[in-house]
This record gives sequence, structure tokens and C-alpha cells, in this order.
Amino acid sequence: METDNFAHWLRAQPSLVGSAPPFDPTALPSDPNELFRTWLVEAAGAGVPEPHAATLSTVDLTGKPDARTLILKDVGSRGWAVAGLRSSAKGAQLTANPVAALNFWWQPIVRAVRVRGSVREATREESATDLAARSMSARSGVEPGDWVLWRVEPVYMEFWQGAPDRRHTRVVYDRAGGTWKQSQIGGEGAIDRFGEASH
Ligand SMILES: Cc1cc2nc3c(=O)[nH]c(=O)nc-3n(C[C@H](O)[C@H](O)[C@H](O)COP(=O)(O)O)c2cc1C
Repeated sequence: METDNFAHWLRAQPSLVGSAPPFDPTALPSDPNELFRTWLVEAAGAGVPEPHAATLSTVDLTGKPDARTLILKDVGSRGWAVAGLRSSAKGAQLTANPVAALNFWWQPIVRAVRVRGSVREATREESATDLAARSMSARSGVEPGDWVLWRVEPVYMEFWQGAPDRRHTRVVYDRAGGTWKQSQIGGEGAIDRFGEASH
């Protein structure tokens, strides 16, 4: 397909065509982890395949961004856990620049979640426990000590609920001074605040 035709074809692809479950942004939990767990369970319930798969973005030694898909292992007060090889590109990047972002997109329910924070390596025992919990085939070839569990410690979380009429809602939790501050952009009466309608 020619470039022009491809751009035309892309523009014709439908977007934001899922069906949003009920969401009341005026009744938010003070702990954003709680909202995330609710949304993840709702995504699974709505049939989203592998809703715990996320894009993990990191920064390399020269300041260039990088990203790949990972499986989320846990969400709790100590952070959001992911795991992989220390000897991988992400392993080197997280050692040099222990910061990361996670992004989830659950198309059938028109929801996305975005998280930013610093990254802390779990203890050797926790990493070993995570490796032990993997299937035999997933463990094979992994050298002892090379499997690492990392926790992203969020300072920013964004919950995005798309709407067919483009009155999208974006709920932001910002961590300052050890507490979460909520704010909301969009929702009723706010159209095209983020430019999506220009697709
Ligand atoms: C659905 C899915 C889940 C994945 N889960 C993981 C994971 O949990 N850990 C991991 O290291 N790689 C996982 N991968 C592979 C990574 O996307 C990536 O290819 C690999 O980690 C190497 O990335 P790097 O070179 O940036 O370190 C997954 C890939 C897909 C498509």
C-alpha cells in the first residue's frame, strides 16, 4: 500500500469503539492502587485478554526512551511489580536510570492507565520467589541471580475513561509529601480537551 493510501486507511480505522462500564469520578478512593485493582478486575470481567500486560518504558544510558510489553506481577503499597532479566536491555537501563512508566490500554472498556515513578529492585529472595512461581518452561535457561523483580513506586497515576461522545474523563493522582492529591480533567461538559477528536 502506498504511504498516502496507508495514511488514509489508518484514518478510516475505528478508534475508541469499546463500551465503557459505569464510572463515577466523584466517588474515587483515596488510594489510587484501589482504583487500579477495581479497573483491572473490571477489564478481566469484560473479557479483556491479558489485562495485566503493560508497556514498561525506561530510559537508556544516553537518555533515549525505550519500551516493551511486560506482565504486571503485583500492585501494593510497596509499588507495582514487574520482572525480567538483569542481563536484558531493560535491566541495564533500570540499573543506570531507576525510573519507569507503565501504560495499560483496555480497548473493550475504553480505559487506559498510566503510571510514572522511580524503580526499586526487590530483595534476592523476592526475585527468587517470583522466578520459582513461573512455569517450568519459563524458568528454563534463566541463570540464578539473573531474574529480577522490580517495583515501580508511583508518584503519578492517570486513569483515562474514554466516552463515545468524546467527553473523556481523566483522573489524575499526584503524590506530593507522602499523600495522594486527586484532580480531574474532562468529563461532563469538557469536550476534546486532549485533542482526540482531531483523529
Ligand atoms: C504479552 C507479553 C508479556 C511479556 N512479559 C514479559 C515479562 O513479564 N518479563 C520480561 O522480561 N519480558 C516479557 N515480555 C517480553 C518483553 O516484551 C521484551 O521482549 C523482553 O523483556 C526484552 O526486552 P528488553 O530488551 O527491552 O529488555 C513479554 C512480551 C509480551 C508480548
